[in-house]
Order: sequence, then structure tokens, then C-alpha cells
Amino acid sequence: MSIVPAAPLPPAQVVIFGASGDLTARKLIPALADSARAGSFRCPVQVIGVARSPKTDVSWRAELQQWLTPEQLEVWPTLAPNIHYVAIGESAAGDFERLKGELDRLAGPEVERVGRLFYLAIKPELFGSTVEQLAAQGMLACDQVRVDGWRRVVIEKPFGRDLVTAQWLNITLRKHLREDQIYRIDHYLGKETVQNVLAFRFQNAIFEPIWNRSHVESVEISVCEELGMESGRGRYYDTAGALRDMVANHLLQLLCLVAMEPPASLDADAVRSEKVKVLDSLDVYHSPEDVWQHVVRGQYSATHNQPGYLQEEGVAGESQTETYVALVARLHNWRWNGVKFFLRTGKKLKQRYTEIIVRFRVPPVDLFQGPIHADVCRLRPNALSFRIQPEEGIRLHFLVKQPGTGHLMRQAHLGFDYKELFGAATPPAYQRLLMDALHGNATLFTRGDEAEAAWRFCDAIRQGWEAPGAPPPAQYASGSWGPAEADELFQGCEGIWGIP
Ligand code: BG6
Repeated sequence: MSIVPAAPLPPAQVVIFGASGDLTARKLIPALADSARAGSFRCPVQVIGVARSPKTDVSWRAELQQWLTPEQLEVWPTLAPNIHYVAIGESAAGDFERLKGELDRLAGPEVERVGRLFYLAIKPELFGSTVEQLAAQGMLACDQVRVDGWRRVVIEKPFGRDLVTAQWLNITLRKHLREDQIYRIDHYLGKETVQNVLAFRFQNAIFEPIWNRSHVESVEISVCEELGMESGRGRYYDTAGALRDMVANHLLQLLCLVAMEPPASLDADAVRSEKVKVLDSLDVYHSPEDVWQHVVRGQYSATHNQPGYLQEEGVAGESQTETYVALVARLHNWRWNGVKFFLRTGKKLKQRYTEIIVRFRVPPVDLFQGPIHADVCRLRPNALSFRIQPEEGIRLHFLVKQPGTGHLMRQAHLGFDYKELFGAATPPAYQRLLMDALHGNATLFTRGDEAEAAWRFCDAIRQGWEAPGAPPPAQYASGSWGPAEADELFQGCEGIWGIP
């Protein structure tokens, strides 16, 4: 994670496969416009969209323009002439040869120096064949030591469907690319508030002595969404579900950042090796019963004004796909042994928010024995919460005595709020990640072994759900906080979801 601002960029081409898709128009082009506004490019970067639909440079530019904000439109006159479109079939060799010719032509006389970022925003089943086609045209070969003329490939999620498919994909990619050329994207790592988890932990010494099993009782990671299957997402989502769509990547990445050991440096491999150790130390559920006890899957049902998941377009009538997952994970290592990690994510929940809460142990004796005593099962007096979105900040929670002769205690907090301190909104995740990929900084991208380790944990859950006798997804009303069963993951006096 570079804290030092990146140097201006030498000439580069961003070649986006899946140029007609939502991601390109909504995230990638606006991110490039924001980077242009921030003056991150020394020479304008060329963007070449590649997709099957017949379009011209002019018609594609007109489409993209509609998604830009007034601020982004200010740089459009300089950006637009560098945006081009090439129509191509799915895997025809002739098309890729033509694409190569077109990229060389656009690069001009300096073609040897121009770096190329191939961004695969396409169906996951096409990742492997696209890379093979690019390699067959010699478009991926580059020298590791040269700073220009580089070739890199960004792979969107999902990276495989399970361990075996992820392993196959890694094998295919590595036939044609070195690991340092592969950028597996997880956009959560590009969020400023997520990067701050590491900065907060390792740039401040105050919490480090208590960041372990002796002082931390549990960790909660909640990624709650209000959205459901808008923009026709049902068809894709029904083949994925919350476990593949969110847990295998975003939630486990957040867990890694909270639980990892300090890396030797912020180099990509130093950081990623520490994350892999966390994933490798996850206790994999050992039987279906273990899964049923520690993992809750749910599916949203209809309310008077909201359709249920089964009524969504593209969703199979009898679908068992989960739109909600809550689980208790444990890490089998020296720092975290015995600490519970409560993870939950779901669609169509009451409120959109992402938060990490580190709950510290309660005092050994309750001296004050006030009314707080009755609430001790709900309240963890000391907690540190990282508010990732939509509110962005960090809060330290503690109890204070309420004025008066009694011993009434109240919760209070010390807080840091991004907007209050820094004013402007934090830069969008894709802007940061695109710039990092262009600069060759892979720290915020996942490595092949990381993706595989995450699937190892998730596959055991899926196997538990597919085993005979597995309970069906628990139903929860659209707009609620998810199934009641998820509350039962907290046992005895362990607290509840969120900060009460
Ligand atoms: C994506 C998932 O990776 O992340 C979506 O595929 C989800 O289903 C999205 O809605 C959430 O991202 P964010 O940044 O809005 O929290």
C-alpha cells in the first residue's frame, strides 16, 4: 500500500474487455476521469474498449459521457479523443490479431514503450480463454525488469466458483503470465476506510499490545446492503449467492486486515503473505453439523410492498440460493485462538452499512453494579469500530458515569470522522485500484494463493449446505435485519450484532 503519492504515469493503454457492461460505464471510465482531473497522468492514457456489440468510437464515447458527473465532464474534452472502441468476437484468433494491430497503431511510434493494462470485466468463464488468446498473439510477453512496455491483466471477481475452479484459473493464468502481471481485484481493498484499518493498526502503537486473544473478546464484520436484485442482477446472483459473492472475497479480506500480523513492509508480497497466513489459520468447518451450528444462511421473503427473492427476475422459482450469510469463524493461531469472528452480510436488509467492531473483554469485576449490570450481556463497554460505509470513521466506545449520586453508567465514544477532518468525500475504490494497477503496485490486489485459501474455507460451508438434512435458507422479511437464527450465533453473554 503506497503511502507516498505515485509518480506521474508513463504512456499506457487501458484495454477494457467487457466495454459494453455496467462496470465500465459506471465505475471504470468515471474513475479514469477522476484520475485525469487529479492530474495523475503525465501523458493522456488511451482507453480501448473491447466488446461484441457493434459500436464506433463516437457512439461509445456518447454512451459513456452520460454517466459522468459535471466535474468529470470538465476533463472529458481531453479524455474523449483518447477513448476508442474495437468490436471483437469471443475467441476468434483473427479478432485478437486485429486487436493487436489496432493497439499498436493507436500507440504510435513509441509502441515499444507503451504499457498495457488488460482489464477483464467479462463473464468469469471467459477469463482463461481471453488470456490464452492474448498470449497466442504475443500480447502478454514483457520483461520483468523494464519499467515501460509492461503488460498486466486485471481480473474482476468472482475468481472461480470454488477451490478447484480457482486453482484451474490460476494454472491457466500462470501459463502465460508471471504472478506480478496478475491483478485480481477486490474493490473493498480500494476503499479508503478499509486501507485505514491497516494504517490505524500499524501506524499507532497504542492498540497493538491489546490486539490479541488476551484482551479482545470478539470481532464482528458486518456488510449489510439495502439493495436486492436491481438492474437485472438476479440471473447472475442466483448462480452465486452471498457466500461466493461477498464472503469469499470482501468479508474475508476485511477479516485478514483486522487479524494479520504486521508485515515486514508495505510491499505487495509482504502484505499478501501475512493475509494468506490468516486465511490458512481459519478453522475450516469439519462436518455438515459444524456448518449448521456455526453458519446461518437466509433468503429474503416478500413483504406487502417488496418482492421476495424468489419473485425477482432471473431467479429460479425453487431457488435455495442464499441472500444472507452469518457465521462464526475462528482462527487457529497464537494471536487469536479462542476469539470469535462474527461475520454477516445480506441483501435487502434494513440499512446499508459496513462496519468492523473489535470488542474488548469486560472488566473482571463489576464494581459499579448499576443498571448497566442488567445490560452486561448486550453491552461490551469497550469496543473499537471501523465505520467503512456509508458513514466513514473510527470510534472508540467506553462507559462513563452519569452525573448524580447513583452509579448510572452511560456509553460514550471518541470519534474520528473522515468528512470532518478531511472535508471532501474519499476517492472511489476503482480510482485507487486502477491507478495502482497502472503503476504496478499490487498490494491492494489479491494473490493466487489468497484466493485459493478463501475458497478452502467457503467450500466447506457449501458442502455443509449441500449435505443431506441441511436446513433450508432461513426466511427473513425484506427490509429487516436478517433471520432471527443469526442472533443465536452469539451465545450466553457474548453480546449482539452491532453497537447497541
Ligand atoms: C460486489 C457484489 O462485489 O460488491 C455486489 O458483487 C455487492 O453484490 C457489492 O452489492 C457491494 O459493494 P459496495 O462497494 O457497494 O459495498
